[in-house]
Amino acid sequence: MAGLIPQDFIDDLIARADIVEVVGRRVQLKKAGREFKACCPFHDEKTPSFTVSPGKGFYHCFGCGAHGTAIGFLMEFDHMSFVEAIESLANSMGVEIPRSESDQPAKRYDELFSLMDAVARHWQSCLKETPEAVEYLKNRGIDGSTAKRFGIGFAPDGWSNVLDKFGQSEEATDRLLATGLVIRKDSGKHYDRFRDRIMFPIRDARGRTIGFGGRTMGDGEPKYLNSPETVLFHKGRELYGMYEARQALRHIDRLVVVEGYMDTIALARNGIDYVVATLGTATTSEHLNHLFRLTENVYFSFDGDRAGTKAAWRALENALPQIREGRQIRFVFLPEGQDPDSYVNENGAEAFVQLLEAGLPLSEFLIRELASQVDMDTIDGRAKLAEMARPLVNRIPAGIYRELLLESLAESVGLSATKLEKMMIAGAQAVDRSVHAGPAAIPRRRRSATSGGPSVVRRAITLVLNYPEAGKNLDVEMLAGVQRAGVDLLTTLVETVQSEPNITTAGLLERWRHDEKGRHLGKLAAAAMPMDEEFDAAAELGECLQQLSLAGRRERIEFLIEKQRVTGLTDDEKSELTQRH
Ligand code: UTP
Ligand code: MN
Repeated sequence: MAGLIPQDFIDDLIARADIVEVVGRRVQLKKAGREFKACCPFHDEKTPSFTVSPGKGFYHCFGCGAHGTAIGFLMEFDHMSFVEAIESLANSMGVEIPRSESDQPAKRYDELFSLMDAVARHWQSCLKETPEAVEYLKNRGIDGSTAKRFGIGFAPDGWSNVLDKFGQSEEATDRLLATGLVIRKDSGKHYDRFRDRIMFPIRDARGRTIGFGGRTMGDGEPKYLNSPETVLFHKGRELYGMYEARQALRHIDRLVVVEGYMDTIALARNGIDYVVATLGTATTSEHLNHLFRLTENVYFSFDGDRAGTKAAWRALENALPQIREGRQIRFVFLPEGQDPDSYVNENGAEAFVQLLEAGLPLSEFLIRELASQVDMDTIDGRAKLAEMARPLVNRIPAGIYRELLLESLAESVGLSATKLEKMMIAGAQAVDRSVHAGPAAIPRRRRSATSGGPSVVRRAITLVLNYPEAGKNLDVEMLAGVQRAGVDLLTTLVETVQSEPNITTAGLLERWRHDEKGRHLGKLAAAAMPMDEEFDAAAELGECLQQLSLAGRRERIEFLIEKQRVTGLTDDEKSELTQRH
């Protein structure tokens, strides 16, 4: 859908949008120097740490880390989709969106939300009239007040209950289709998606119903039927129970991520309110962003079977880039055959909390899993472990945590940290022989800022983001062949500001919105940069590029020398080394 709106239109829109007005219409802003401040609308706070920078076209909260452009703000605050946010922004600025394809009428979201709400309420009243459904819930330990709190309902059997009640006109039927409540047959006829199921409304951060999950009371397939992806509902983004948790708690000290609706509800019923569920999808980085905005302590509690371990591993992989000092991620495994729902009902809340507290820290889970895949008694096995750990360790931002993890890894393979790093280098070279050396295959070295280490890449990216015009006259060729995480991103950023001389900070962020590599750009754009007249961003950026180019060359030589020693060089590499040396 996003592809329908031309990129240069988005660039232009975001350059001209007044973020202060967009945010200011929804949040009371106070001027503070060049910027504007407010109490953050995305987390609870008493002193304002939410900042809007008109120059950058960008907002940022120093408390919870929320940040983004005008488009991002509309998406977060008004729960709009990307396209909706652009439509709303364009509307408020009185400009028309050029579409590469046929025009789509703007969807009336308010109507969709109120439809979802009406249907949810309808199903709640159906539940009261259906003794076997109430009985089913009772048998599963859910009492009336818990059912009410989660808005649980019942969709009676039949092909057209919802359709008849809510689909009286063509527009109304279109809305039912748009929200996934009915399905259209090839013949053009419609029928209800949810029939004879216990219904769990899925709510957004503001409590609006955006989707449903429906459980059969028997053995029908599927066990749970969920709303499809719709304009309101994006599975990879939502966490079931988040709204209810935030309603129940004043302060969120920790959040437990579970797999299912019933896990969330059963724990809440037992007084453990700080639980959310990922609804049958993997834990995405969007989920993690959301979680870490609310708390520093995240627990994953998955089933004690193989599928559970797999889900936990996926969560671990996605969590690595989000590791920071102060953040705690633990993995809690239940006994085989149990899930949080059955566990808490059998053993009580206290036992579950004890399990949480005994959860494996991320580093231990990582090492345990890797070690279980190799023969730790052999050198080969341990080398294999080092090789498997390398890409994972490289996803962790440089810092104390990463160093500590390397140390624990070293300890568990019975080596010194230096030896382990050596092994990782050897592993990198094994990869080099098959694939050409990508950023992940670079031997890891501790590098200081002056040696052109990751912090220089980061600084350069921060500079381009904050002072796009500083990149205008640089020779980006200098970076060719510098193999360092982030250099390709830096190169593309510089190329972008050179081809789009008017692009703003916010414009750059929007360019990378749908790109995994752009995940950290928002944080870098929020970095405090000197604002005084004397600060020469272009010179500073040029300096960074010089350093990188130099360090890249030096490193290549070191790499070749090391490789010569360990495995020998190809003819090409030999001549490269003589030339460079
Ligand atoms: P589980 O199969 O573990 O179910 O699926 P559960 O949560 O323990 O449910 P109960 O206790 O049998 O009622 C975990 C989650 O995966 C999704 C649902 O979100 C479910 O809560 N799921 C599962 C589906 O979406 N569809 C299915 O058919 C099964
Ligand atoms: Mn279950």
